[in-house]
Amino acid sequence: MTAKLLDGKRIAAEIREEVAQDVKATAVSTGQPFRPCLVAVLVGEDPASKVYVRNKQRACEKAGIEGRTHRLPAESTQKDLMDLVAQLNEDPSVNGILVQLPLPKNGNAGAGFNERAVLDAIDPLKDVDCFSPVNVGLLMQGRPRFLPCTPHGIIQLLHRENISVAGKNVVVVGRSDIVGKPMAMMLAQRDGSCGRDVANATVTIAHSRTDDLAGVCRTADCLIAAVGVPEMVKGNMIKPGAVVIDVGINRVGDRLVGDVAFDEASEVASAITPVPGGVGPLTIAMLLHNTVMAAKLQSE
Ligand code: GUN
Repeated sequence: MTAKLLDGKRIAAEIREEVAQDVKATAVSTGQPFRPCLVAVLVGEDPASKVYVRNKQRACEKAGIEGRTHRLPAESTQKDLMDLVAQLNEDPSVNGILVQLPLPKNGNAGAGFNERAVLDAIDPLKDVDCFSPVNVGLLMQGRPRFLPCTPHGIIQLLHRENISVAGKNVVVVGRSDIVGKPMAMMLAQRDGSCGRDVANATVTIAHSRTDDLAGVCRTADCLIAAVGVPEMVKGNMIKPGAVVIDVGINRVGDRLVGDVAFDEASEVASAITPVPGGVGPLTIAMLLHNTVMAAKLQSE
């Protein structure tokens, strides 16, 4: 079998266009100027984070959203960062706040940042990443305010490709707060609560301590790899005909590779996301969607 390529880049462009149309239509329907504003906070000089933040800012501008970036040096203190978040929370011209992760480990006089405290401090109405405990709690209860961007992007991809997971076995490899945990929850929810009919799956969360990881992965009708280990999922860990979603973006030498060994996997799967050009662009598209939602919520 040669798998169908799931073109995240194309679907992300479609969603970004829908967001841009929504921004324009909102201005027309309210008779007021409508220009949502997203502020990214970038601490330190991590090259990958700089690229991500620049891409997010550019995508904002194309959709009619103001994208600002606040840069803090890696040597900033926890208090510097907390003060900035407090200031952005109070600023009525700011609709969405995104603190780019990971925060530098070596800054802050060697002590490191308390990442959780920073994310907890973001106003839940401006929490476009859906990382704050209130928003995560609402999501877990099936009444989300925001949907976290990467899992929501995957839901959109499955929906727009007419891939149903209802009643199917989905294995999510990885248990991160950003992807694995919310992804599993969203796919297991009843129809509708996460905005789309991609739901009702039978979900297994697998991870580095799972016994017989390969065997568990082979039970998956849909396998979602979000572990951050280059090409960890091999072809022989995939059930023939499965749908494979690769969330990983790993730099190996001068190549970007996913968490799935793409060439082997595409011989076995029925459909697969490429890296790059799969899940990554969808994450940005859903961030724009959340920023517009945040601006609307704040104007209510
Ligand atoms: N670092 C990697 N992915 C993300 C994300 O979705 N949001 C933020 N804030 N940082 C990240």
